[in-house]
Amino acid sequence: MKICHVVGARPNFMKVAPVLRVLRGYAGVDQFVVHTGQHYDFNMSDVFFQQLEVAPPDVNLQVGSGSHAQQTAEIMTRFEPVVLQRRPDLVLVYGDVNSTVAAALVCAKLGIAVGHVEAGLRSFDRSMPEEINRLVTDQLADLLFTPSEDGNANLVREGVSPEKVHLAGNVMIDTLVRMLPAARQTVTADVPERFVLVTLHRPSNVDDSEWLDELLEALAGIGQETPVLFPVHPRTRQQLGARGKSLAGARGIRLMDPLPYLQFLGLQTRATVVVTDSGGIQEETTFLGVPCLTVRENTERPVTVTMGTNLLVGRDLQKLCDEVERALNGSGRKKSVVPPLWDGHAAERIAAVIVGEAVAAIAQG
Ligand code: UD1
Repeated sequence: MKICHVVGARPNFMKVAPVLRVLRGYAGVDQFVVHTGQHYDFNMSDVFFQQLEVAPPDVNLQVGSGSHAQQTAEIMTRFEPVVLQRRPDLVLVYGDVNSTVAAALVCAKLGIAVGHVEAGLRSFDRSMPEEINRLVTDQLADLLFTPSEDGNANLVREGVSPEKVHLAGNVMIDTLVRMLPAARQTVTADVPERFVLVTLHRPSNVDDSEWLDELLEALAGIGQETPVLFPVHPRTRQQLGARGKSLAGARGIRLMDPLPYLQFLGLQTRATVVVTDSGGIQEETTFLGVPCLTVRENTERPVTVTMGTNLLVGRDLQKLCDEVERALNGSGRKKSVVPPLWDGHAAERIAAVIVGEAVAAIAQG
């Protein structure tokens, strides 16, 4: 059985790593990795392959940046010949980035089976590009692997046949569990005893300059009291422009380049509170039991709120500052349960389904 894994953007790399590793243990499974090149900076891509001990991709489509239409179309155009030449039996796509939907579309049109890892998540907010990618990918996929029960319910409601849907658990947590000891060792002596860890990159936060200014001002205020560590995503770096300079000069705020996986995970384990708009970080903080304040009105990962440490602060900056304060003085939310099947074994369940389906197909002739 030949399996093609398609990845393109930073959060995909932590998800593909455990699936590749587990499938390697099955005789008769031949696999290759296509990197679309959606993310291409060393510290947004290569360093993840190195740290996660994933071999360099077999094919790199080198699409680079562009508008959504350009990027999606370019991935499709460059991916199609690879699929036609290599003829995989199954293409696995990950998460909700443009690379995910582009590859799924190519395969659906060619009649090649698609598996979606991290299926079924919904923010119910179609102004998010990722929500469009999730909806379309899940309609096209033949095998859908969900990280939590809410994903199954969403898919059933959208008319996806339940036989295609498999509750597998969270592959990102597989990687976290494996890498946690190494991540803890990266924490250097200059990391403050107590600090606020910040990441922001969603268009809804960083492309709206008025709102970004207000948010940065609030962070600068927080930095007066407690150190703020802020690894800056390339998209955010562009939007910061001149404001970045004054922010970098603000007392208590440490702006830095995007961090490698282990270093960032190490910081998460030690953070007093995390402020973010990332999806994956909502999950990682829930697993680690670290308070997380999400600067969004909604989340496609509701279990991080109902079971975990996540709180949506939306655009309420007073709430953000109050909740940071509560976390710093120890009166923040303590409730945290790790969601079912976020146990480090999701990739094993995914591999078992894939290989089981292949065996069943052979039996049916
Ligand atoms: C993408 C995903 C988002 C995910 C995020 C993780 C989509 C629609 N969005 O957003 O879901 O949370 O990745 O990081 O797929 N850039 C660089 N170097 C790079 C990559 C990007 O400088 O290696 C710059 C480019 O100028 C580009 C901008 O960052 O225009 C945004 O990159 P893009 O891939 O379009 O989306 P992200 O914002 O990274």
